[in-house]
Amino acid sequence: MSILSIEATALLYLLAAVCFILALKGLSSPKTARRGNLIGAFGALVAVVTVFLSTELDNIALIIITIAIGSAIAAPVSRRVAMTQMPQLVALFNGVGGGAAALVAMLELTHVDDLGSVIAVAFTVLVGAVSFSGSVITFAKLQELMPTRPIVFPGGPVVMAVVAVASLASAVWLVVTGAPLAAYVLLGLGIVLGVLFVLPVGGADVPIVISLLNAFTGLTVAASGLVLGNTLLLVAGTLVGASGTILTRAMASAMGRSVAGILFGAFKGGSTAGSTAASDRPVRSSSAEDVAILLGYAQRVVVVPGYGLAVAQAQHTMAELASTLEAKGIEVVFGIHPVAGRMPGHMNVLLAEANVPYEALQEMDEVNPQFKTADVALVVGANDVVNPAAKTTPGSPIYGMPILDVASARQVVFLKRSMRPGFAGIENDLLFEPQTTLLFGDAKESLTKVLGAVKAL
Ligand code: TAP
Repeated sequence: MSILSIEATALLYLLAAVCFILALKGLSSPKTARRGNLIGAFGALVAVVTVFLSTELDNIALIIITIAIGSAIAAPVSRRVAMTQMPQLVALFNGVGGGAAALVAMLELTHVDDLGSVIAVAFTVLVGAVSFSGSVITFAKLQELMPTRPIVFPGGPVVMAVVAVASLASAVWLVVTGAPLAAYVLLGLGIVLGVLFVLPVGGADVPIVISLLNAFTGLTVAASGLVLGNTLLLVAGTLVGASGTILTRAMASAMGRSVAGILFGAFKGGSTAGSTAASDRPVRSSSAEDVAILLGYAQRVVVVPGYGLAVAQAQHTMAELASTLEAKGIEVVFGIHPVAGRMPGHMNVLLAEANVPYEALQEMDEVNPQFKTADVALVVGANDVVNPAAKTTPGSPIYGMPILDVASARQVVFLKRSMRPGFAGIENDLLFEPQTTLLFGDAKESLTKVLGAVKAL
């Protein structure tokens, strides 16, 4: 029995939609992100409760059991996941969303008869299936269950074109006949297409594809809203589709790539280079005491945090080192690359957790001109985002990506554990330059030693 009137239901949906919009607004800045997230979660709760109170549900027990099982899996996984593994978790959740939208559309096929709704069903089944299987492959790549490099095989573009054309033909078949068999064929082809779509994407570009697939899922949810006549699904799906598209474009431009180049670059013989082998070229390494002297006698230090800072959980030690240097009259700023770490805003979140003031965090365009006047660029667990190959080596997997210009600083100090490359799997020539010094070790341990030595100066 439905408890809520149509008007009350519409008002509650409106409330939920407003919460989703405010959530996106909040998520656009680290200062307000936590609040934005809570507002979004509240909106989702309002939406789910409204569905229960406004709809005649036949299988309520089954629905509640399914929600309980899903929550029992998702809640502990979300709590336990390391921040560095967040992109693969997002990929998995996104894939499940796309798959669910495709399945709902399959079920709705028996209930719809107008042309517009059948087109929306075909769209949802195809794009939802692509989003599902594509997300599973991105998860496997980021989790290193399969190679992260682009996977291309002879005739790949032809196979992809054939599957794409067959998918469109099945969509037309479904729209014209409404036959359930056409929906199953479309679902199967969509799954194959999703796999083919993501296989040629190289490791460093995978996060952008996750964002793109997220936008796809949003569009499928919006189309489900059309099929089910549910305004809230339509609004929520459109918001996810639009924000996912904006994020995809922002990330692609931060990496100096076009979205088409990311998806199809490997077919054109783009670099598939990339390894995890350590270089054996000689480098200049030094002790924590030497690094402390460099920092302690500097006037300006630019810190470049990267993925290794997150792995080592060294953000608190880094923040303490920065404030110790500042207490000695040394200016310290943090240069934040938009794709440093493994997810958008990764470094901002880490450093905010360690109470580094937002004003000390400077974005790439703002900080780059300042390296020229910096005495030391302290690169903590970053590699690709400072690798000059992005400017100098056409064919490199990161060629074209704007980088932090640490090479212009008087001295460059890298904190890393070994000579292994970063995410893109390519050597960094800056490590071998005369102005560069390496302090080997886990970033947290190294920073603790440097901090002790700076205090003792
Ligand atoms: P990376 O290029 O991956 O370099 C990380 C560096 O940290 C490596 O040099 C590694 O060297 C070092 N490291 C790892 N663990 C460490 C530890 N415990 N202590 C000290 N050093 C440690 O990182 P980046 O410069 O931040 O670049 C990010 C890369 O990830 C880019 O290629 C980007 O495209 C890609 N990516 C970005 C995102 C987003 S959206 N941010 C998502 C996925 C991928 P050792 O192993 O020798 O220590």
